[in-house]
Amino acid sequence: MLFGQGSKTTVGLDIGASSIKCVKLERRNGTYALLALESRDLPPEAIVSDEIKDRDTVIFNIQSVIDMVDPRTKDVVVSVSGHGVITDKFTLDKKTGPEAEQAILFEAEQRAPYDLDDVTMDYHVLSVDDVNNKMDVLLVAARNDFLKQYLDLLTDANLRPVIVDTDAFAVLNAYEINYDIHPERVTALVNIGYDNTNVVFIKDGIYHSTRDVAAGGRNIFDTIQKEFRLNQELTMKAIKGEMEASIDQDMLKATIVTSAEELISGLEVAFSYFRSLAKVDKIDWVVLSGGGALMPHLPEFLQSKLNIPIEIANPLRNIEYDPDLFTNVQPERIAPLLAVPIGLAARKV
Ligand SMILES: Nc1ncnc2c1ncn2[C@@H]1O[C@H](COP(=O)(O)OP(=O)(O)OP(=O)(O)O)[C@@H](O)[C@H]1O
Ligand SMILES: [Mg+2]
Repeated sequence: MLFGQGSKTTVGLDIGASSIKCVKLERRNGTYALLALESRDLPPEAIVSDEIKDRDTVIFNIQSVIDMVDPRTKDVVVSVSGHGVITDKFTLDKKTGPEAEQAILFEAEQRAPYDLDDVTMDYHVLSVDDVNNKMDVLLVAARNDFLKQYLDLLTDANLRPVIVDTDAFAVLNAYEINYDIHPERVTALVNIGYDNTNVVFIKDGIYHSTRDVAAGGRNIFDTIQKEFRLNQELTMKAIKGEMEASIDQDMLKATIVTSAEELISGLEVAFSYFRSLAKVDKIDWVVLSGGGALMPHLPEFLQSKLNIPIEIANPLRNIEYDPDLFTNVQPERIAPLLAVPIGLAARKV
């Protein structure tokens, strides 16, 4: 760019099934400062399994978080995840320019379980091995109908998506700006949401692969609601640990543990698939984010079931912020929820 360095602030918007989260970050000499953050809980039926069921409610809540973060916002970085998105990695003979593009498209066509006309694709050359004349390519494809749902939503909310990322890569980005990646520790970043749990595997100090597990907090939420006969608002309070005096904590723990089975078996499948793909014996470390990281008893239970040490992510670890941004809540109490929006807002636009 000839004049100036462009806008140094970026707004990351995470349209989750449980809540919409939005942050504004400013880039300051290679570090970041959090200028604003805002979130709105959605009714549980507004977005179900990545499908937008109640557009008006979602748009209203998007506009509402944007108005609080910065009403002048037009450009946002957003993400998609779940069954409409496919991420793949492969190795090709080293090529450059249009030749590389052709080879990547050809390979995508061979591998993809979909018609290339029905998807929007993007690729990124992860690494080049000059000795063996090979390159590792990361391919991300999103189904067009799936993508359109989200893009139309943003247009109707008067916003312009300048980058469409995936939840998993946003989680990875948030991790990279806040932590040093351990070169020897095989790590799984696990972002437990409402309908999706994004898993990113790191091996030899670099990204290895990603998988979305179609399970999350919804099942736990629904079971608590039913078992304790609570309305939605009180169920959320119970999950946030705000009803300790009025509900039986042993029963709450038992309910969470039993309703997390589906999530755990999904994670076990993802982990064992990764172990065989990456040819590793074990995963050394799990870094938990998303609302699930804040649910009472869940991290401990995951740790004992998976038999892997778990750390709760703090996506604000390396980020400057004014403590006054967190009026009613301690930052650590909500930081894990911010992995995706922070990772998005930290993208270079
Ligand atoms: N402060 C909190 N304490 C405990 N649990 C919470 C808290 N906030 C959210 N949750 C729970 O975490 C889950 C939602 O997590 P999250 O906000 O990461 O999902 P989402 O991003 O909206 O969903 P998805 O990524 O699947 O679209 C819900 O089950 C919710 O009840
Ligand atoms: Mg999410």
